[in-house]
Amino acid sequence: MANAHKDFNTAPLDPALEQEVRTIVNDLSLTEKIKMLSGHGFFENFFGEENRQFGQRAYPAGSGNERHGIPSLHFCDGPRGARHKRNTTCFPVTMARGATWDRNIERRVGEAIAIEARALGASISGAVCINLLRHPAWGRAQETYGEDPVHLGEMGAALTEGLQTHNIIATAKHFAVNSIENSRFKVDVRVSDRALHEVYLPHFKRVLMSGCASVMSAYNKINGDYCAHSVPLLRKILKGQWGFKGFVHSDWVKGCYGEDALTAGLDVEMPEGIFYGSNLEGAVGRGEVDEAHIDEAVTRILRTQFTFARTDDPRTYSDEDLACNAHIQLSRAVAEKSFVLLKNDDLLPLNPNDTQTIAVIGKLADEVNLGDRGSSSVNPPYAVTLLNGLTSAAGPNTTIVFDDGSDPKRMTKCAEAADVVIAIVGYTWENEGEFIPGNEALEGLDPDKQLPSRGGDRDSLTLLSSDEAMIAKLSDTNDRLLVGVMSGSAVIMESWRDKPAAIMMTWYPGMEGGNAFASVIFGEINPEGRLPFSIPADADHLPFFDAEADEIKYGLYHGYTLLEKSGHRAAFPFGYGLSYTDFTYSDIRQTKGDSLPTFEIDVTNTGDRPGTETVQLYIGFGESLIDRPVKLLRGFEKVTLRPGETRTVAFSVSPQDLAYYDATAQSWQVEPVGYTAHIGANSEDAVTRTVRFELNQAAYS
Ligand code: BGC
Repeated sequence: MANAHKDFNTAPLDPALEQEVRTIVNDLSLTEKIKMLSGHGFFENFFGEENRQFGQRAYPAGSGNERHGIPSLHFCDGPRGARHKRNTTCFPVTMARGATWDRNIERRVGEAIAIEARALGASISGAVCINLLRHPAWGRAQETYGEDPVHLGEMGAALTEGLQTHNIIATAKHFAVNSIENSRFKVDVRVSDRALHEVYLPHFKRVLMSGCASVMSAYNKINGDYCAHSVPLLRKILKGQWGFKGFVHSDWVKGCYGEDALTAGLDVEMPEGIFYGSNLEGAVGRGEVDEAHIDEAVTRILRTQFTFARTDDPRTYSDEDLACNAHIQLSRAVAEKSFVLLKNDDLLPLNPNDTQTIAVIGKLADEVNLGDRGSSSVNPPYAVTLLNGLTSAAGPNTTIVFDDGSDPKRMTKCAEAADVVIAIVGYTWENEGEFIPGNEALEGLDPDKQLPSRGGDRDSLTLLSSDEAMIAKLSDTNDRLLVGVMSGSAVIMESWRDKPAAIMMTWYPGMEGGNAFASVIFGEINPEGRLPFSIPADADHLPFFDAEADEIKYGLYHGYTLLEKSGHRAAFPFGYGLSYTDFTYSDIRQTKGDSLPTFEIDVTNTGDRPGTETVQLYIGFGESLIDRPVKLLRGFEKVTLRPGETRTVAFSVSPQDLAYYDATAQSWQVEPVGYTAHIGANSEDAVTRTVRFELNQAAYS
């Protein structure tokens, strides 16, 4: 399917469309224009018939003028499905999808979410959450794809392309440096220009260059200003340097703090015009806000809305699309690709036709655990637990028994009698999720103060002590133990990871998670998930994090770049994951040596079953004369190989892949030094295959 709007931010403006918009803007009164710069009716519904439940419908989200027959835009949340009170498909959380490293399937997820959102009457989707995972304690880690800007950008662009194929405007959120929950309404993130451009923004740029037509500003501050009020962020970088042609809207309630946001570049205040609306009219009257900014905001909204509304739809949309079979099957396929096998000492796969007893232990195995209950939560018509999935996939001679683990004696007995034990541990929405502050956020808006707070950042990076005790007991009891970890980001496993025979990240695996899990456990599907973040051996190897911070500094290093810079090995490195087969890599060949060098490598499946490998290219900066990461991911490709099959994977490198951001010159620079290309199965493995190269002189000019 074509990506209908891929040129939205890069092609020249359409003169006829611009003229048409200009004519409308000139005809609108100030009041009419200002009315288009916010949502309407959110609070009336929220405090009325919605009974303080978020996400009951698609929210009116700016635009709308009856005289000109222009409808309001309607916003539908994501990212794990189209959010609505009606039943829709629940996909694995974004972090699970990040672990697929699969652009194609993510594009299909985008299409499915868009199809359902269109069927629900929405025109704009909040599914593209691409904040960088700086620290695993972040409550909303599960809503993004991982720690690396290149990987994040590729996956976010794939989702955007899928969404926009169905003429849904994708909104990239939360712009920018948004990665602490508890203090998200107040924290001031101090970040240098260099760290901003190299670490925290490249994925936003990548997604916008794939056509993403809207941006949601973050709640937090950046270098002293709320993001919705940040001139450097919105005016200078987004609308200036990057040439973004769409519109920026705020996050919901407490996302905007005054009329001056318009001057800074915030086009739409959501969910209602608290500072915009009549206040904005007053501000224009007093000369505090230039009407030209209002005209610009309306122009951006109409340009975007008309472009999307007038592009032919590839199909029609109806109720039949909601949680339809095709989308449910896609949810299962994504989950199957997302599980990351971290350890496997000859335990998996199990044969479903063996005569065996499998003890499934832990209450999470028997619970619907789809992820957090903030704005990303969706209502699927049903969900298959891991226990249900295993039970229905087991052959006639396999007996599945379950124990919730609450009584250690009973649990031990159950595990002793079993041939294999599968323990499911981890978190729920109560341990990590979006922080919904309730009354605090609705101060002055909610007369009855009836909204309790929930969610937030994780308290701990290890498993709950009850889970760790359970693993210790079970591993003493039965050697054939698999530990499945449900979580949205890294869990520190040092105290127990040598004990079980196998460990697998299951994430929050979506409505078909149980069936997908069973297909991997029983070997029908070969695991292919790879970690989209590093799992450190020690919390001290992570950057500083404070969930209650008023101010925090974000630097150049986190995740694998920090581990490598400080010489710490990961417990499980970025990009890591096992398969039921084995892959070997040849040496790297450089096939072109000019300004666009290309590197090739042969990858062979040396095992006895088909499998999929994610081949990763890193560029090393060891010869740099300035402070730079040891190496950075610059490309990845998936290859599916039959037993014995070899395929060549090629990567080309552009000067931008080598560049650093020179804050003094305010531009990207390529140092005239040598670089290294590393290709392999994960960030540590790639070091074993290295080739040095230089660009020719022409590349520097
Ligand atoms: C979240 C956004 C979400 C919005 C609307 C906010 O609290 O931060 O991600 O899109 O609510 O539900």
